Amino acid sequence: MAPVAQRARGTQDILPADQPYWALMERVAQEVAGRAGYQRIETPIFEPTELFVRSAGEGSDVVTKEMYTFRDRGDRSLTLRPEGTAAIVRAYFDAGLDQEPQPVRLFYLGPFFRYDRPQAGRYRQFHQFGIEAIGEEHPMLDVEAIQVGWNWFTQLGIDSLSLRLNSIGDEVCRPAYREVLREYYRPHLDSLCDEDRLRFERNPLRLLDCKVPACQPFKPDAPRIVDHLCQPCQDAFRTVLSGLEAAGTPFELDPGLVRGLDYYTRTVFEYQHASLGGAQNALGGGGRYDGLAAELGYRPTAGIGFALGMERTLLIQKQRGGVEPGALDVYVVALAQADLDYAAGLASSLRAGGLTVGLDPGEARLDARLKKAARRRARVALIIGPDERARNEAVVRDMNSKTQVTVSEAEIVSSVMQTVGRA
Ligand code: HAM
Repeated sequence: MAPVAQRARGTQDILPADQPYWALMERVAQEVAGRAGYQRIETPIFEPTELFVRSAGEGSDVVTKEMYTFRDRGDRSLTLRPEGTAAIVRAYFDAGLDQEPQPVRLFYLGPFFRYDRPQAGRYRQFHQFGIEAIGEEHPMLDVEAIQVGWNWFTQLGIDSLSLRLNSIGDEVCRPAYREVLREYYRPHLDSLCDEDRLRFERNPLRLLDCKVPACQPFKPDAPRIVDHLCQPCQDAFRTVLSGLEAAGTPFELDPGLVRGLDYYTRTVFEYQHASLGGAQNALGGGGRYDGLAAELGYRPTAGIGFALGMERTLLIQKQRGGVEPGALDVYVVALAQADLDYAAGLASSLRAGGLTVGLDPGEARLDARLKKAARRRARVALIIGPDERARNEAVVRDMNSKTQVTVSEAEIVSSVMQTVGRA
């Protein structure tokens, strides 16, 4: 009989072999965010649809093509969160965090959902590590956020990382730039892809982000927004650049970087990695969103943050290797069923001593069970046969050197500790 169902397309099981990588990514996230004063927040997996429509932008890919939207039994339209920032701004006001000393620094780890076309590094359920600093518009916070992300990657040992940086202005200078960009693209409209013709009307900045080959020739000569920034945006960008230079964080200016969500103002950035290739090369990205709170109906409030893709980061970590999937310290084997209670008692004592212990309750031959111990990469096999049981002893086998000694019950823990190097 065939199984009734398979994994839903674009989803993954995170199996035990990968858990050490996830544990490491989470631990390092808590460390780098915590050290910079960011505190953890968790928001619901689903929110009213309107929150994401208003924040990401009606014309954005996320809203037009990628949301998992459903009606609940009370006929409310709800959406599985495609990103974290909008919900965190909502939570910031809901919880009265706007009354606390500003900025409020928050970080999050968790699953997000987008109806994307699945491929390596792109899934329909994926995980992000993100931070948001809300309630302060000083550009040094942009520098701080960029560095927290940078530190996460470097502490995970990921190199060959490039940091791309741009400013996309604000509501003062961007409208004029949009017109300049339209003027530039207007004569080429017939040569652009269908999607770009829509972008031309709705959000011309996104023309700079098109990946279709036919649209590429127009990009190099397109007017650059950094040449059209108003004075306050120019000043803020200069502070960001000099802050990063002072901190020794390498970056590349990328006048074509515009990001896929509509809420950004001023600083935008992405961390990219060459080995991911193509359109999926962004390991993470973020920027400032000083207009988002007002767009959601709250008091105008500045914010800056990023989100880093954990599945993509995992791909790179695995290429590097070096993270040990969980190995056992000790594999306990009782040769006869009658000795299982004694063996289980020894396993408990070893666990109480802080070791990772697997008990083999089977009845297979010893050599087959030692093979299993090797597969679990146990450092020690503890073997109990009828003779050992009768004399209250056990055999401690060093799985590396394949040598073994018989020790009395009182010495078992210290002998095993010594062999695994924890004495
Ligand atoms: P985003 O650029 O949409 O930004 O997503 C951030 C990162 O999440 C991407 O660079 C990528 O690594 C990962 N990601 C996105 N979609 C997928 C997918 N389908 N499969 C695997 N990984 C994916 C945001 O989400 C903003 N909220 C970031 C932000 C925070 N801006 C300000 N604060």
